[in-house]
Amino acid sequence: MQRTIVGIDVGTTKVCTVVAQVHESGKVNVLGVGLTASKGLDKGVVVNIEDAVNAITTSVEKAERVSGYRIGTAFVGIAGRHISSLNSRGVAAVGRPDHEITRSDIARAVESAQAVAVPTQRDIIHVIPRAYQVDGNDGIRDPIGMSGFRLEVETHIVTGEVMAIQNLIKSVQKAGVEIDDLVLQPLASGEAVLSPEDKDRGVMLVDIGGGTTDIAIFVNGGVYHTSVIPVGGNQFTNDIVYVLHTPHNTAEYLKLRYGCAIAGDPPEPNDPNDLIDVDTLTMGEKQKVSRHLLNEILQSRAEQIVELIYNEIRRSEFEGMLPAGIVLTGGCAQLPRFDELVRDMLGVPVRVGVPNDLSGLADTLDTPPYATAVGLLRWGSRHGLAMLNTPHSGLQERNGWGNTYERFKGWLREFLP
Ligand SMILES: Nc1ncnc2c1ncn2[C@@H]1O[C@H](COP(=O)(O)OP(=O)(O)OP(=O)(O)O)[C@@H](O)[C@H]1O
Ligand SMILES: [Mg+2]
Repeated sequence: MQRTIVGIDVGTTKVCTVVAQVHESGKVNVLGVGLTASKGLDKGVVVNIEDAVNAITTSVEKAERVSGYRIGTAFVGIAGRHISSLNSRGVAAVGRPDHEITRSDIARAVESAQAVAVPTQRDIIHVIPRAYQVDGNDGIRDPIGMSGFRLEVETHIVTGEVMAIQNLIKSVQKAGVEIDDLVLQPLASGEAVLSPEDKDRGVMLVDIGGGTTDIAIFVNGGVYHTSVIPVGGNQFTNDIVYVLHTPHNTAEYLKLRYGCAIAGDPPEPNDPNDLIDVDTLTMGEKQKVSRHLLNEILQSRAEQIVELIYNEIRRSEFEGMLPAGIVLTGGCAQLPRFDELVRDMLGVPVRVGVPNDLSGLADTLDTPPYATAVGLLRWGSRHGLAMLNTPHSGLQERNGWGNTYERFKGWLREFLP
């Protein structure tokens, strides 16, 4: 079976809308892509609604034009430093007299896991069941049909600030699109670039974009840790501006054209191969910049990001337990030798992950910056709608996105085995 699904990745540097037919197997047949420079976002968060609406509208209209498909609803990625996550366990007594476990037992167990104290200014974005225990026996992925007295569930819960969530929702709605579901960006990217084997063995997904570095750790097929760090490619560019006194667009050009995450040995003095001509801040003047110096600037920022990645591994308590290593994606994963730097510093296998299994008008979607956009489509196809689009579901009640109970019912449908 295949469905037409729309994903909108509202990133810090680009907005990318993809319309595609997604097959159950994960194969994506792209009908249209709408790519535009992002505006009104800072470090993954909407800071100017009008600018964000304009960028989203442009991207959506482009995708509509190419695909000939009128976009009504879409899966939308969310990130930003306001995101936080925790693991929570829930428990339920098995209801049926014959003690066979049913969906309703799972629903009650997940509901109890979700009954954690969420401060009033935060909203739940995901409640993701990961594994079950029946009468104390762990590691069960699908308890339905098993017999037992007591069902426990482990879940991963992701929350975000109400205002940041609402501003994103508002921006998408004002662009004329209703939201099927919000999906945490690293979870979407994981759908695009990780294999089920990676997730079973233990893997860390790191999506380094323009504004944020988004992280998700999967073990035994489930999500254990997610995090959004407000550092990304823009900092590399700003560092170049700051140290080399170049205009911003020159700095971005230098990074993309000559950048490398490992500076290597210093060149001989006045080595002509090391020098690049660049514009200075004073119009018309030229300046020569050392390629080695440029790469030292990039390497020091890259090393800082690797340290932040390492902090997250430690925080997750999975240090030494990720045999599938680290999969880098997002635009910055394209910085030459970044993967090598991560491997050298952390001593784990590292690869650059790109979306695969794409056909149709896929253009350049099979490159790291598009992991989130493609992943949103797979998420949509695998988990379906978290929102219930029924007239009486009270969707508009709280924030135009669905009240928690309705969405909770949706999550169950999403994640039930
Ligand atoms: N070859 C490259 N070398 C170094 N950096 C690169 C390269 N290609 C792209 N980038 C950087 O990647 C960043 C954009 O990545 P991406 O498109 O994944 O970001 P985004 O999704 O818009 O932002 P975010 O996810 O952080 O909100 C920019 O900072 C860009 O300079
Ligand atoms: Mg991104």
